[in-house]
Amino acid sequence: MSFLPQPHGGKLIQAFNPTYDVSHIERELEIDAIALSDLELIGVGLFSPLTGFLGKADYESVVTNMRLADNTIWSIPVTLPVSYPTAATLTEGEEIKLVFQKEVYGVIKVSEWYEPDLDKEAIEVYRTPELAHPGVKRLYERGPVYVAGEVILVKKPEKGVFSDVWLEPKETRALFEEKGWKTVVGFQTRNPIHRAHEYIQKAALETVDGLFVNPLVGETKSDDIPADVRLKSYRVLLENYYPSNRVQLGVYPAAMRYAGPREAIFHAIARKNFGCTHFIVGRDHAGVGNYYGTYDAQLIFSEFPEGELGIKPLFFEHSFYCNKCEGMASDKTCPHSNEDRVILSGTKVRELLRSGTLPPSTFSRKEVVEVLIEGLKESATV
Ligand code: ADX
Repeated sequence: MSFLPQPHGGKLIQAFNPTYDVSHIERELEIDAIALSDLELIGVGLFSPLTGFLGKADYESVVTNMRLADNTIWSIPVTLPVSYPTAATLTEGEEIKLVFQKEVYGVIKVSEWYEPDLDKEAIEVYRTPELAHPGVKRLYERGPVYVAGEVILVKKPEKGVFSDVWLEPKETRALFEEKGWKTVVGFQTRNPIHRAHEYIQKAALETVDGLFVNPLVGETKSDDIPADVRLKSYRVLLENYYPSNRVQLGVYPAAMRYAGPREAIFHAIARKNFGCTHFIVGRDHAGVGNYYGTYDAQLIFSEFPEGELGIKPLFFEHSFYCNKCEGMASDKTCPHSNEDRVILSGTKVRELLRSGTLPPSTFSRKEVVEVLIEGLKESATV
């Protein structure tokens, strides 16, 4: 008997079929890196219950109600944008090859195409119309028409340095079972793991059987630290500071949306599909700039019955090292002022790293910082 949660919607979607015959399909659609990642994640079931790119009814329902048309909770539209001239030539029921850099990765069976209300999508999903928001900018750049339909993944992209940690939901589920974990907490990050992240992960792990460290390695904005550099830092951190029988590293290959609260729900659902029972939501989860309140991504969970969401969020307040407490603490547990706390903004840390300066060990483990400085030097010379 499994203790892990059922996949979202009840069934793990498996739409990978490498032997699917594409020779009879003439038409091709060139897709971008985000659509390629979405295609793969639909195919391997990480986006269960989605079986394809959203149709109009689902899209409108997700944008307005955070639910698919059949009422299943779903907070971020997963859509396939095309140009008007391309859309005008599409016919319902036709199969089209999905191509990225001259390779066929999938097939879509077109069900319809539609013009999304991008202004509404921006306001509802990202809570802002501002093009300075990276998610909103991308939304308008990708527009203006969405093509919908079920997909088949016929080829998986190369995994490179990620191959040993690129685990599909069916694999993580089997792994968690094998380890005998009845409760597993998932941790999302698009950053190196600093002391505050480590603190909330380990605080969560105190109450569950296993920790699934699940960094996002899909598209991020250009000033985020590259995923391959981060991966090295995760490996060295886990080797040195985490008990291997309690922790599993695996990547989350989705694009970052920077949609704050809505993305926290989306992240939680994907982790449920991986088999997690719990999900960490800390300060300004998936936020960017000042678009969201510090705890908005926690508050949004109260809009859904926990049983219906099927994964339990674990909330953490802003955490830091406090010189007076002489240890890690949070707004909830530390009575001291910011002067006693080691708090550095992401931008500040990236600046330090890029200039080769070590942030204090109370902010980030030395081994992690060294790997990051080295990695950033190398990526700058490429
Ligand atoms: S995110 O975009 O992936 O959410 P980040 O990698 O910074 O960004 O955060 C990963 C997780 O750790 C999120 O749940 C976030 O809320 C939480 N978090 C990050 N920094 C802190 C902190 N100092 N205190 C508490 N939670 C934090």
